[in-house]
Amino acid sequence: MRKKKQIPDLHYLYEASVQGVETDLDFAARVFKNKRGRKPTDLREDFCGTAALACEWVRRSPKHRAWGIDIDRPTLDWGLEHNVSQLGPKAGPLKLLCADVMKVKTPPPDLVMALNFSYCIFKTREQLRCYFKKAYTTLNADGLFIVDLYGGTEAIEAKLEPRDVEAFTAADGTKVPAFEYIWDQAEYNVINHHVVNHIHFKVPGIRKIKKAFTYDWRLWTLPEIQELLIEAGFKSAEVYLHDWDKDGESDDIYRRRTNYENALGWVAYIVGIK
Ligand SMILES: C[S@@+](CC[C@H](N)C(=O)[O-])C[C@H]1O[C@@H](n2cnc3c(N)ncnc32)[C@H](O)[C@@H]1O
Repeated sequence: MRKKKQIPDLHYLYEASVQGVETDLDFAARVFKNKRGRKPTDLREDFCGTAALACEWVRRSPKHRAWGIDIDRPTLDWGLEHNVSQLGPKAGPLKLLCADVMKVKTPPPDLVMALNFSYCIFKTREQLRCYFKKAYTTLNADGLFIVDLYGGTEAIEAKLEPRDVEAFTAADGTKVPAFEYIWDQAEYNVINHHVVNHIHFKVPGIRKIKKAFTYDWRLWTLPEIQELLIEAGFKSAEVYLHDWDKDGESDDIYRRRTNYENALGWVAYIVGIK
C-alpha cells in the first residue's frame, strides 16, 4: 500500500520562511561590539517560540549563555525536541522558560532581542512602554535591546505575497519538501493601525494549510518605537535599515539611518541603547 504523504510540522515551515537567525545575531554582535568595545556573551530571546535564535547563540561559542521566554508550552516543547536537542552538550548554557515576558525574571543579559514583530501584540502606548521598561530593567548596565519592525507603502495594503521556499533538511534530519509560503495582510484599520495578518503554506502534492499562523497586531511606526524606547528609559534609540540587491530585494546589510527612501516594503532593526 502506498504511504500517504505527510505534511511536515508547521514549525519547520515557519522557521524556514520567516526566520533569519544568522543575520539577526551577526547584526546584534556587530552593533554591540561597536557600541561597547567588547563581545556580548549573554542573550535573552523574548517571545522565543521554538528558540531558534537562542539555540544559534549558544551554538556559536562556549562563552555564550541564553534564555528563551515564551508563554506557549507546546511551541517551547517543539523547540526543545527539535532545536535544543541538536545542541548536545552545548545546550547547557541555554534555559527555556514558559512565562509571560512581562512577569519573568532572568539574570541581566547583554542583549534582549524580540523579533519578528512579536511585541506588536501590545496595542497601546502604555502597554508597549511597560514592556520596553521591562526590557530596560532586565538588561545589564551596558545592555542593548533589539526589536524589528516592517513598514513601507505596501505594509498597509491588503495583499497576498507568495514566496517559494526550497526543499531542505532540518537540523534534526527531517526532510522538508519545497513549499510555498504566503504572507496575507488581511485587515488594516486606518483609525488605530490594528492589523490582522496570516501565514498560509502550500505544499505541492500534499495540501494548502490556510491560516497556519495568525497575528493580531498594532502596526507601530518607527518614530513611535523610538519615542517609546526613550520614554522607557533608554538613553538613545537607533534605526538600522538595509539597502537593495539588483533584484530589488533586501541585501540584508543593515546600516544606521536617520533618513530613508519611502520604499514599498522594508524591515528595520531598532536598537535601544542603555
Ligand atoms: C510571532 S511569534 C515569534 C517567534 C520568534 N520570536 C520568531 O522570531 O519567529 C510570537 C511568539 O510570542 C509568544 N508570546 C505571545 N505573548 C507572549 C507573552 N506575553 N510572553 C511570552 N511569549 C509570548 C507566542 O507564544 C509566540 O510563540
